[in-house]
Amino acid sequence: MATMLTWKNKRRVVLGITGGIAAYKGPEILRALQRAGCEVEVVLTEGAESFVSPMVLSTLAGRRTWTQDDFLSQEKGWEIPHINLADWAELVIIAPCTAETLARLVQGRGESLLDATVLATKAPVLLFPAMNSHMLEHPATVRNIKEARAMSYTVVDPDEGSLACGYEGKGRLPAPSVIVEEAWRALSPRKDFAGVSVLVTAGPTWEFIDPVRFISNPSSGKMGFALARTAWYRGADVTLVSGPVSLPTPHGITYCPVKSAMDMYKAVIEKMDFAKIIIKSAAVSDYRAASIEMEKMKREGKDTLTLNLVQNPDIAAEVGARKSPDQILVGFAAESSHLVEHAKEKMLRKNLDLIVANDITATDAGFAVDTNRVKIIKKAGDWHELVGTKEEVAWGVLNTVSEMCQKEENR
Ligand SMILES: Cc1cc2nc3c(=O)[nH]c(=O)nc-3n(C[C@H](O)[C@H](O)[C@H](O)COP(=O)(O)O)c2cc1C
Repeated sequence: MATMLTWKNKRRVVLGITGGIAAYKGPEILRALQRAGCEVEVVLTEGAESFVSPMVLSTLAGRRTWTQDDFLSQEKGWEIPHINLADWAELVIIAPCTAETLARLVQGRGESLLDATVLATKAPVLLFPAMNSHMLEHPATVRNIKEARAMSYTVVDPDEGSLACGYEGKGRLPAPSVIVEEAWRALSPRKDFAGVSVLVTAGPTWEFIDPVRFISNPSSGKMGFALARTAWYRGADVTLVSGPVSLPTPHGITYCPVKSAMDMYKAVIEKMDFAKIIIKSAAVSDYRAASIEMEKMKREGKDTLTLNLVQNPDIAAEVGARKSPDQILVGFAAESSHLVEHAKEKMLRKNLDLIVANDITATDAGFAVDTNRVKIIKKAGDWHELVGTKEEVAWGVLNTVSEMCQKEENR
């Protein structure tokens, strides 16, 4: 069964840009939202027009940009732009959001087109305050952020770093990719993991044999990262324990990078009690070197090399043995033959509640590729197939986990 993520298609976003120095990043944010497949209407405050050109934004958007002149004007006012924009929007993003705009929003004022749009919309509102650190720390701004959150606006903390005003500190506008990720979390049609702690493992492990060589496998971490991001979109508090991968660290997630299977074992055992759902999608090495050479091994004089390996702990089996009845443990099985039988046997032996099995001989599934083809097998033995991108498969896996949580609640 294919699981298309149609909820990400053509979402209607109003992007409000206010008069902070970071307004110059507005065109990049617009582009990032467009690349993500969103339709975007841009609204500038009067202040923003001093920092970024409406012409640039209109050209990139392929449609007009809304400015303050459109609001109470004889020519455009009758079109009631704030109501039309408010009704059209599925999400309103203000990035950057100045201290001034934040204060006006909290007071519920409507003198600018952007303020009035926010007042009139039923869509979720995402604010990205960006300003000088002292402005951000001012009790008035701190209070306004708190009040905005109490009004159900999502206020995303600014980044730390060097600010345009010459200060080092908190106040930077987050990267466009972060703004897009927050948009997905706000737009996700399912929030069935709201407040639920989810622990995901991903990637390969590195088992060093000397200071520069290790035994590993081709796992890219893509499946685990997709599961972590998707659970976060759906409201979860996610911890991701990952072996070495070359993927960007996902936004919003507590990231715990590890190297070896022993590191991963320790991290998972330490964190498992805090998680309701534990998803083990890492490709953990079964063996490690019995001892790691302190010096780099030399090839001279050695035609062959015999490595002495010892077994690593079986993390999934250990978690299965320790878990409480209300925790849900999901395992992954990469199989090359008798997929369902082998995976089912693994599920029962390790006390997993669900197993996701993929056939590593298929070219569109498994290691490193962006797509996957898996069989989701339940304890009772019934299974169904999911085919799609790793994100689509992650969405489908979490649907099954969500059903299991609901059944448990109804018990
Ligand atoms: C050069 C310059 C840079 C500014 N940068 C910021 C900023 O980064 N964040 C902020 O909150 N205000 C900043 N301000 C102040 C705002 O422009 C000012 O409060 C304005 O009234 C904001 O109006 P608006 O929120 O309606 O766009 C800056 C002002 C100037 C002159």
